[in-house]
Amino acid sequence: MSTPTRPLIAGNWKMNGTDAALDELARLKTLLGEAPGLAAEVLVCPPSTLIHRAAQIAEGSDFRVGGQDCHWLASGAHTGDISAAMLLDAGASHVILGHSERRADHGETDAIVREKTKAALAGGLVPIVCVGETEAERVEGRANRVIAEQLAGSLPDESGAGPMVIAYEPVWAIGTGRTATLADIAEMHAHMRALLVERFGEAGRAARLLYGGSVKPSNAAEILAVPDVDGALVGGASLMADDFFSIVVAA
Ligand code: G3P
Repeated sequence: MSTPTRPLIAGNWKMNGTDAALDELARLKTLLGEAPGLAAEVLVCPPSTLIHRAAQIAEGSDFRVGGQDCHWLASGAHTGDISAAMLLDAGASHVILGHSERRADHGETDAIVREKTKAALAGGLVPIVCVGETEAERVEGRANRVIAEQLAGSLPDESGAGPMVIAYEPVWAIGTGRTATLADIAEMHAHMRALLVERFGEAGRAARLLYGGSVKPSNAAEILAVPDVDGALVGGASLMADDFFSIVVAA
């Protein structure tokens, strides 16, 4: 395994989208169909209710569909939860895990994220494990340590056996219009790469490191050109097909 060659542009719709939003996916399919040979792999993670229909639209297209969370168990009495097998069955290929909104809203710890990551791998999904420091942690000079701890705690040893995707999303850059500076992104991604290579060897070198946090058409090209940035996890700008496609093209 070697350094990742194709960037991954992933859209995280969060808790947005009902049936009408599928029109945007159909539009994305058209745009991608008109632009064969793009460098990036494309993934869209809609809410669970839309995954099956989104996967049907994705058939014959160049994008794939992912979930936004899964339980660490395969099935059982867990009202409101969804398992890796269910996501796979609905047509998902990937799942976002440990997003800072889930860490904050649902009290997800690194240990929980690690169990979910194991479940995703065992269930045949590619986990996209999210890490990110708060603004206070950055201001206090603790960002590198926080990210090292989150990576160490959230990734199971099994991560080294499959395709590894990590998303660095500084919490203060999510949905705020503020992005980390290119220098800060470069430093953090190099830091993460070194930690992953130290722990996982070649698999760490091959891991895809995505940046997330207010990525938009106007800043995507410069962010994606930063060394060790192998793609982006896009929130707000993934909801409109034309904006998301512009980011895909920028890669
Ligand atoms: O997971 C993507 C994300 O948290 C970034 O959201 O809206 O800042 O692009 P946004």
